[in-house]
Amino acid sequence: MPSKIIWITGASTGIGKDTALTLSKAGNIIIVTARRKSRLVNIVSEIKFSEREASAFVCDVSSERSIQTTYKRIKERYGKVDVLINNAGVTVFKNFSESKTPDFDYIMDINLRGAFLCSKSVLSDMIKRKSGHIINVLSTAAKTSLEGSSLYSASKAGLMAMSDVLRKETRKFNIKISNVFPGATETPMWDSKTRAKYKNRMMDSVDIANVINTIINQPKKVVIEEIVVRPVKGDL
Ligand SMILES: NC(=O)c1ccc[n+]([C@@H]2O[C@H](COP(=O)([O-])OP(=O)(O)OC[C@H]3O[C@@H](n4cnc5c(N)ncnc54)[C@H](OP(=O)(O)O)[C@@H]3O)[C@@H](O)[C@H]2O)c1
Repeated sequence: MPSKIIWITGASTGIGKDTALTLSKAGNIIIVTARRKSRLVNIVSEIKFSEREASAFVCDVSSERSIQTTYKRIKERYGKVDVLINNAGVTVFKNFSESKTPDFDYIMDINLRGAFLCSKSVLSDMIKRKSGHIINVLSTAAKTSLEGSSLYSASKAGLMAMSDVLRKETRKFNIKISNVFPGATETPMWDSKTRAKYKNRMMDSVDIANVINTIINQPKKVVIEEIVVRPVKGDL
């Protein structure tokens, strides 16, 4: 497969970081973005040490201006984005009755509005080129009911619904939209107690990275539209 220019949001840790390293090893040009610059710089150094191409830009997906500036800088350096991976995401574990408006705004701004804005930033150029791929890292929480995750589930289910419509609207332009639904994966999203307790049961972020690599490596006329990936023993 020829090398692709791939933008991964929320790539400073966890699934985003391992996706960056995996897709780089597969021969692609990687752009990592997130808020924590030092972590991004370390990832780029690791990739460049192996004589592969990568860049890091600070991008807060809750800021439209930050996204627009980032896409402009990516275009100046590489000309285009072949694959956007909407991976940046956060959660707050609270029952619905304890959830407050700032919790709602925080989760929606990053998980739903952030992915909306990043997708919009790349879309018009993808339509002009009649090629491009947007991959959303959703969650099994979009498909099943997890107590203590109502707002998170709503954000992921919202992005699923929005992307399903986008797929229909952009098929005619040869654009691929893929939704990945991971189950519990051992990353900093979970607190240290939960990680220690379930470490052997959770998936590793590199497992999700490998699935994303498979999604990207499909033939030109094939799209994996949805893929659910769970630990063998199921949800926690
Ligand atoms: N771990 C799981 O069990 C699991 C399961 C299903 C789905 N997921 C999804 O997988 C994705 C990655 O999560 P993870 O598990 O790898 O957790 P993580 O290690 O906490 O990664 C979250 C990433 O999002 C970034 N981020 C947070 N707020 C941001 C903002 N305002 N702007 C830009 N980036 C922001 C963080 O970077 P900065 O803080 O540096 O900005 C970080 O790189 C998320 O969408 C999550 O919902 C995770």
